[in-house]
Amino acid sequence: MSADNIILIGFMGSGKSAVGRKLARDMNYRFADTDQIIEETEGMKIKDIFEKHGEEHFRDLETELLKSLLEKTRRTVLSTGGGMPVREENAGLLRSMGKVFYLKTSKETIIGRLHGDESRPLLKGNLDEKAERLLKSREPIYERAADITINTDGKTIDEIINEIKMHIRRD
Ligand code: S3P
Repeated sequence: MSADNIILIGFMGSGKSAVGRKLARDMNYRFADTDQIIEETEGMKIKDIFEKHGEEHFRDLETELLKSLLEKTRRTVLSTGGGMPVREENAGLLRSMGKVFYLKTSKETIIGRLHGDESRPLLKGNLDEKAERLLKSREPIYERAADITINTDGKTIDEIINEIKMHIRRD
């Protein structure tokens, strides 16, 4: 049975945290962000976790966190790190926690937002090339993991929130 949470997935820079925080406020839900919780529990920035312990370790932390959130999370908007649904196991856990929304964003928008950002280890170097390659491999994964896809390009945070609410009311 799916719990009453709202889960946001999507690529880095797709607005999951900004949309999630405001949506939670609007709906009187709690807000949680998996990247933020991992940074707090590990006492380290994600960039440093990747550097010191590698990506696999970070992915293990993500899976562990989802398992620990599963039972206790209710009426929460959960914003997830961009790689969260890549592991099949995580995608299943997310679906069992609530309705999963994919915030779909074009490469151009992502690049515009993340230009000059130093906090995302997977985009270090040539942003355009890296984003293109990763987005291509991730898009089908996001589509598959989501209950609903929301195209976010050219939309304001409030417009995106209204679309999400419309889907929630409908079901
Ligand atoms: C990642 C996305 C990041 C963060 C980490 C890895 C990814 O989260 O979890 O850098 O694999 O796409 P945001 O989507 O919040 O940037």
